[in-house]
Amino acid sequence: MSWAADLAVSLSMWAVTGLGAIVWGFPSSSGNPVDGNNAKPQANLAEFTIGASGQDYYDISVVNAYNLPMQIDAIGRAGSGTNCGTIQCSIPNVTSFCQPPNTLTGGPGNGCYNHDGPNTGAPTKGTQAFKNVCPETITFTTDTTGTVYGCSTGTNYEVVFCY
Ligand SMILES: *[C@@H]1O[C@H](CO)[C@@H](O)[C@H](O)[C@H]1NC(C)=O
Repeated sequence: MSWAADLAVSLSMWAVTGLGAIVWGFPSSSGNPVDGNNAKPQANLAEFTIGASGQDYYDISVVNAYNLPMQIDAIGRAGSGTNCGTIQCSIPNVTSFCQPPNTLTGGPGNGCYNHDGPNTGAPTKGTQAFKNVCPETITFTTDTTGTVYGCSTGTNYEVVFCY
């Protein structure tokens, strides 16, 4: 998927299984499938801010939850850390991973809620469980150091689910 370089936009993208399609959305858009919007709080998110002052920013957030393996590639780039490169997060068995205080979400996302993720400014036992398996992701609200990647505007990206 790619966007025009002069389009300044923020969006997030997520997916659920069982609908036969990847479901994704722009905030404030009304055109999203209902199941997709319902699943958003139960899913890991690919978040993009495109074309802000010549710079794009992107991340994978598990602040709310995790449900499916996700990878973001900056096409043709190979950076690491907060550079212009690839971010990945994969949890092989959500059921065994999801231990208290985190809880399984059930449908439609069938993921694991990050219990402390939305409400804390510091790591907790619950958020650390996510950080241990997906160190490149945002695991609590202010966990933005080393997790927000950047490329110059004009870069193309791909979001891969279940890579
Ligand atoms: C995932 O973990 C659960 C709970 O430990 C276990 O019952 C299940 O067999 C596991 N699934 C796979 C595919 O390994």
